[in-house]
Amino acid sequence: MSYKPETVQPVEGYRDADREELVQLLLMLREELNDAAPFEDVVTDKYGALLQGDLGQFMTPTAVSNAVSGFLGAAGEKGKKRAEPTCGTGALIMGDLRHTYAVGGKDGISHVDYSINDLDQRLVRIATVQVMYHSIRHEAPLKRLVAHNADLIRNYNSSPPFFVATSWRGMLPGQMI
Ligand SMILES: C[S@@+](CC[C@H](N)C(=O)[O-])C[C@H]1O[C@@H](n2cnc3c(N)ncnc32)[C@H](O)[C@@H]1O
Repeated sequence: MSYKPETVQPVEGYRDADREELVQLLLMLREELNDAAPFEDVVTDKYGALLQGDLGQFMTPTAVSNAVSGFLGAAGEKGKKRAEPTCGTGALIMGDLRHTYAVGGKDGISHVDYSINDLDQRLVRIATVQVMYHSIRHEAPLKRLVAHNADLIRNYNSSPPFFVATSWRGMLPGQMI
């Protein structure tokens, strides 16, 4: 994988030790991600196994999210505009996108406009990276991905997005907010 240094954005809220841990985690995941099917979630089961139940955080196992997406997909045509207000690591989003890709390919993905959110900034960032990694790797841009980090009970609809991509091809620093 390569990147343009001028497009790199600073990541706020992490200590140096956290960043080192993240780099180690990314290196460990890289091989698995390389072998993954388009929009296959290789993160949630690992992350979910480490959770202690704080903040009501437990992630939907990948097998369940894939089954839910298949079940809902079979129920009929879904809207293009989708939202996951408590996304965690993105289990349900990834199951949904995996199913969308399996049924409609890149064209299906290109119509999807997703708004995602979680109270926990670490989790919504993981979900964002998961979606964008697969979108870039498989050259399947979404119509739009908007990520929020809001408490839906206390600041519903008042938190600006911290990440917006209307197309990964056009994702430049000015569009990272
Ligand atoms: C049970 S987990 C489910 C995560 C994901 N939807 C899944 O299926 O794997 C619930 C998520 O809601 C988030 N959450 C809890 N309270 C919230 C709130 N008031 N506003 C936004 N997110 C919240 C937690 O951080 C957690 O990631």
